[in-house]
Amino acid sequence: MRILGIETSCDDTSVALYDSERGVAENLVSSQVDLHDHFGGVVPELASRAHLVNLLPLVDYLLERQQLKLRDLDGVAVTAGPGLIGALLVGLSTGKALCAAAGLPLVGVHHIEGHILANALTADMVLPAVVLVVSGGHTEVVFMPEVGRYELMGGTLDDAAGEAFDKTAKLLGLPYPGGPHIDRMARRGRPGQFDFPRPLHKDPRIVFSFSGLKTAVRVVVDELPRPLDEQTVADVSYEVQEAIVDSLCQRLFQAARRKHVPAVYLAGGVSANGRLRERVAAEAQKRNLHFLPPEPVYCTDNAAMIAYAGWCHFAAGRADGLDLDSFPRQPLTSWR
Ligand SMILES: Nc1ncnc2c1ncn2[C@@H]1O[C@H](COP(=O)(O)OP(=O)(O)OP(=O)(O)O)[C@@H](O)[C@H]1O
Ligand SMILES: [Mg+2]
Repeated sequence: MRILGIETSCDDTSVALYDSERGVAENLVSSQVDLHDHFGGVVPELASRAHLVNLLPLVDYLLERQQLKLRDLDGVAVTAGPGLIGALLVGLSTGKALCAAAGLPLVGVHHIEGHILANALTADMVLPAVVLVVSGGHTEVVFMPEVGRYELMGGTLDDAAGEAFDKTAKLLGLPYPGGPHIDRMARRGRPGQFDFPRPLHKDPRIVFSFSGLKTAVRVVVDELPRPLDEQTVADVSYEVQEAIVDSLCQRLFQAARRKHVPAVYLAGGVSANGRLRERVAAEAQKRNLHFLPPEPVYCTDNAAMIAYAGWCHFAAGRADGLDLDSFPRQPLTSWR
């Protein structure tokens, strides 16, 4: 089965081909980082317009590289939401048009299910598992007994972990998106130079809060002499990252204990973070839990994860009609 995946939920235009016999045959991503960098964040209208310009040429390029015609495909999977509504509509309308033109089945995929199933692109997932979803818009812990069944165990009360990385990076004068820059700078940081809060540390619920961290970093940074020197930026980055990673690890393993699962996983853009991967690997080993981090290319937004998730839906006999709607917000629910 050959499934074309389309992902346009935010600022990356991505198309991919998942072949159930060969795995991911193609995963093309056209980044809009340069377009939005100047504004310090994603400008929704600019993102939609850029998807409009880039998406069809990317589909053509993929088919040409694979020497395929549209009718050689077995289905199209498209991110239906959550995300920026204009950006999603460009992907969904394109997916529908391709399906109508070539008589292909369509399936809408929840973006977060895509992030979770990105783990299955590296190796078969060990299930049941607890998955920590950490991205630009989400920070939640999901219990996953099998593909297609998801139970939300808890999440953030305010900012997502990705936002915490991006907002603190901005305070430090680092480019957007800040997560990878904090990750890089923190490697040169010296422990113990700053002290940031771990909110809700004693709360028995599976909850996160990151808005206080941003305020704490602002208070510290406002007191520092300007311009900020590189070592200071590295030292602050180190402690910001430790504070975020501490909270994430605590809740992930608390949830794993509660559900008695044999495996834990990471999903979403922040799962590319080197320190988070290292800490989760070490803690999982201590507890004798299976853990394999997703490949870095499949951590941030990509259509390979959407194509694969779509294949799971098709293989289970599920498809959507051409009346499928996109949605800006909606929790991940089970479909199996
Ligand atoms: N190495 C890294 N360390 C920390 N954060 C990172 C790293 N790489 C990427 N990120 C963060 O990941 C986020 C982007 O992830 P992703 O593309 O999954 O988010 P999104 O699609 O915008 O949000 P969502 O998936 O919730 O809709 C950004 O906040 C970015 O800073
Ligand atoms: Mg994402």
